[in-house]
Amino acid sequence: MTESKKLLVTGGAGFIGSNTVSRLVDQNDVTVIDDLSNEPDDRFIRRFIGRGNFRFIKKDITKPRTFDGLGKFDLIIHLAANSDVKKGSENPDIDFKQNIVGTKNVLDFMKNGGCSELLFSSTSAVYGEAAVLPTPETYGPCMPISSYGASKLADEGMITAYSHYYGIRASIFRFANVVGINSTHGVIFDFINRLRADGSRLDILGDGTQAKSYIHVSDCVDAMLFLHSRSEKTDVFNLGNEKMTSVRKIADIVVEKLGLRNVRYEFVGGVDGRGWKGDVKKAQLDTSKVSALGWKNRHGSDAAVEKAVEENVVSR
Ligand SMILES: NC(=O)c1ccc[n+]([C@@H]2O[C@H](COP(=O)([O-])OP(=O)(O)OC[C@H]3O[C@@H](n4cnc5c(N)ncnc54)[C@H](O)[C@@H]3O)[C@@H](O)[C@H]2O)c1
Repeated sequence: MTESKKLLVTGGAGFIGSNTVSRLVDQNDVTVIDDLSNEPDDRFIRRFIGRGNFRFIKKDITKPRTFDGLGKFDLIIHLAANSDVKKGSENPDIDFKQNIVGTKNVLDFMKNGGCSELLFSSTSAVYGEAAVLPTPETYGPCMPISSYGASKLADEGMITAYSHYYGIRASIFRFANVVGINSTHGVIFDFINRLRADGSRLDILGDGTQAKSYIHVSDCVDAMLFLHSRSEKTDVFNLGNEKMTSVRKIADIVVEKLGLRNVRYEFVGGVDGRGWKGDVKKAQLDTSKVSALGWKNRHGSDAAVEKAVEENVVSR
């Protein structure tokens, strides 16, 4: 993005949101809406509060009047959601409310003139257990096996419909697993916490062969901005790396970066070798569409995991 813009970032106090804000706040006017439901506090964005070009609004986007009186924006980056797939598997209502109702309210704000450009954080979970790996954007039918993936697929449909009705231009990004600084959930976060508590053993959910493609958050944020600026219509993009990293390999990387030795791995509590019901065992995205548009990640899947482990070991 070259010229200064007025941006609204929903979920801007979270992991990807705070990295997005930090990438954009020097050159743009940034408003964050976040109810801090997934965060204990505003620690990731506190350093921006007080700047003239930054505004933090602590509100819940599932409430209908949240967007009243906010004015107009050049671009909305919509990240607020329940991002915890496991939590949704225990109570699908959470995905329905946070992800579907929340997105509908963002779209209604746009419909009423608040903005006509949208970046949306979807997920590889929309594909479910795809029969084609790496999975291209054109793969179908999409049959999610988690309410999280289902809620994001519903969001995608509402976004394309609102785009058609109301002239919104949206870029829908199906993220692989995003990793990096400020991450507060997911396998890396979990392994670091467990090993800090007991450096002699590590409980691994599932059988450790679950493998997914990982993308570093810095690549994820830059790719969204790059691709939206080169796209003329509402479109869908996979964002990830074609190679996969197994859960066992992640465990090895965390153990090594923490300087531990002889850690005993215990494979516990999984369902059919998966972490939990709704966990896709292998997720690999075809990234040829974004490559053809000129995007290239700086970090491959293993390198993204390594960098993220280093960042999270240092920051905590
Ligand atoms: N991290 C990943 O690997 C990944 C992968 C695929 C898609 N995504 C999507 O990217 C987006 C950002 O994910 P993240 O990893 O940064 O998650 P996160 O949980 O760190 O951030 C989400 C933020 O949204 C806020 N939020 C949740 N519900 C809200 C509501 N009703 N009103 C206002 N704020 C609310 C939370 O407090 C949190 O700060 C999410 O939509 C997630 O589904 C993430």
